[in-house]
Amino acid sequence: MQVFLQLGLSFALLAAQCTPGAAVPSSQCRRQCGTVEIPYPFGIDPNCSLSEGFDLSCKVQDGISKPFNGDFEVLSMSLTQGTMRVLNYIVANCYNTSTRSMEFMGRYTGFVGQPSSPYRLSDVQNRFTVIGCNALYLIADKNGTGYQGLGFSTCRNFSDLVDGSCSGIGCSQTMIPKMMYNYGTDSSDLFNTSQIWEFNRCSYAVLMEAATFNFSTTYVSTTKFNDTNDGRVSMVLDWAIRDQKCDVAAKNKTGTYACLSSNSVCIDSVNDNGYMCNCSLGYKGNPYLPDGCQETTRVLQAAFATIRLEATDVLVE
Ligand SMILES: *[C@@H]1O[C@H](CO)[C@@H](O)[C@H](O)[C@H]1NC(C)=O
Ligand SMILES: *[C@@H]1O[C@H](CO)[C@@H](O)[C@H](O)[C@H]1NC(C)=O
Ligand SMILES: *[C@@H]1O[C@H](CO)[C@@H](O)[C@H](O)[C@H]1NC(C)=O
Ligand SMILES: *[C@@H]1O[C@H](CO)[C@@H](O)[C@H](O)[C@H]1NC(C)=O
Ligand SMILES: *[C@@H]1O[C@H](CO)[C@@H](O)[C@H](O)[C@H]1NC(C)=O
Ligand SMILES: *[C@@H]1O[C@H](CO)[C@@H](O)[C@H](O)[C@H]1NC(C)=O
Ligand SMILES: *[C@@H]1O[C@H](CO)[C@@H](O)[C@H](O)[C@H]1NC(C)=O
Ligand SMILES: *[C@@H]1O[C@H](CO)[C@@H](O)[C@H](O)[C@H]1NC(C)=O
Ligand SMILES: *[C@@H]1O[C@H](CO)[C@@H](O)[C@H](O)[C@H]1NC(C)=O
Repeated sequence: MQVFLQLGLSFALLAAQCTPGAAVPSSQCRRQCGTVEIPYPFGIDPNCSLSEGFDLSCKVQDGISKPFNGDFEVLSMSLTQGTMRVLNYIVANCYNTSTRSMEFMGRYTGFVGQPSSPYRLSDVQNRFTVIGCNALYLIADKNGTGYQGLGFSTCRNFSDLVDGSCSGIGCSQTMIPKMMYNYGTDSSDLFNTSQIWEFNRCSYAVLMEAATFNFSTTYVSTTKFNDTNDGRVSMVLDWAIRDQKCDVAAKNKTGTYACLSSNSVCIDSVNDNGYMCNCSLGYKGNPYLPDGCQETTRVLQAAFATIRLEATDVLVE
C-alpha cells in the first residue's frame, strides 16, 4: 500500500510541474455525451471548452443523449485529423400529383458559420451530391469566397441508372473549394420531375461525406435516400484554432498558444488560416492539455497507475 501512495504523490508533483499559467478545464467537465467522446478543446459544460466555437450542447432525444454543434448532430470528432463529422440535412424537390406543382422541402438549406468560428466545410471529404433524373441545384458561399457551384444530374430512362455509379446519370458529385464556412442551396425551376414523376418523383441535394455514399438506383425511384437518419447524412467539418498560423501562435507560449502538452507539435490548418495541435511522433493523447501527450508505450502503464490510485483512494478512506 505504501508503494501505491508514493506513486500517487509523484503523479501529483508531475502534474504541478507541467501546468503552465493558461486555463485548464476542470476535471468535473463531462467528457462524454451518449456514446460520443467530447475531448478538450471541445466541451459541453460551461468553462469546459477552449473557446465559444468549441462549445457543444448535449441534448436528450427519444431518451438518448446526443451532442450538437448548433443545429447539427455531432457523430464524432478527431483530434489527430482536426475533423468533426456531423449530420447534414438533405433538401428535396418533389412533384405533387394532386396539386401538379413542385414542392421544395428542407429543414435547413445550408450551413451557417462565421469566419472566426473553428469550422470550415471539408473540401477533401465532402461532395455536393445531387440525385434525380432532371435535377439542377445551386450551392453558394455568399459571404466567404463568393463561390457558386452547380449540381446537375439527368437520365433519359430508369434503365440507364447503375448502382454504385454517381457520375452524372441520375446522380452527380461536385467538389467545393477550400475556406468555406457557410453555404446555402436551392433548386433551379428550370429542371423538375413533373414529366418523369412515375419513376422519379423527388430529386435530392446535400453536401455530404463522399466516403459514406454509395449510389443506389432505388434512391431515384423511392424515398430511401431520405428515409434513414431523419433525412440527414454525414458531412465533414475541418476545425482549427483560427486567425493565427503556427509561426505566430507558438511564440505566445505563456498566452493563447493552445498546444499545451510539452510533447506536442503545431500544425498549420490545411483549410484556411489557423492551426491545430498534435502529439509528437511516438506520443499519444490530448495535445491541448498540459501533459496530455504520453509516450505510446506508457499509455498502458498510466492506465494501470490510475486504477491503482483509485484503489488507494478507497484504502485511505
Ligand atoms: C466560468 O468562468 C468565469 C470566469 O472565470 C466565472 O466567472 C464563471 O462563474 C464560470 N462559470 C461556471 C459555470 O463555472
Ligand atoms: C497527428 O499524429 C498522428 C500520429 O502520429 C498522425 O497519424 C496524424 O496524421 C497527425 N495529424 C496531422 C494533421 O498531421
Ligand atoms: C400534395 O399537396 C397536397 C395539398 O397541399 C397535400 O395535402 C399532400 O400531402 C401533398 N402530397 C404529397 C405526396 O406531398
Ligand atoms: C452576409 O453578410 C451580410 C453583411 O455582413 C449579412 O447581412 C448576411 O446575412 C450574410 N449572409 C449570409 C448568408 O451569411
Ligand atoms: C427506355 O428504356 C426502354 C427499355 O429499356 C427502351 O425501350 C426505351 O427506348 C428507352 N427510352 C429512351 C428515351 O431511351
Ligand atoms: C455499392 O453498392 C453496390 C450494390 O448496390 C455494391 O456492389 C458495391 O460493392 C458497393 N460499393 C461500395 C464502395 O461499397
Ligand atoms: C417544369 O419545368 C418546365 C420547363 O422548365 C416548365 O415549363 C414547367 O412549368 C415546370 N413544371 C412545374 C410543375 O414546375
Ligand atoms: C425527408 O425526411 C424528413 C425527416 O423524416 C421529412 O421531414 C421530409 O419530408 C422527407 N422528405 C422527403 C422528400 O421525403
Ligand atoms: C498573447 O497572449 C496574450 C494573452 O492571452 C494576448 O493578450 C496577446 O494578444 C497574445 N499575443 C499575440 C501576438 O497574439
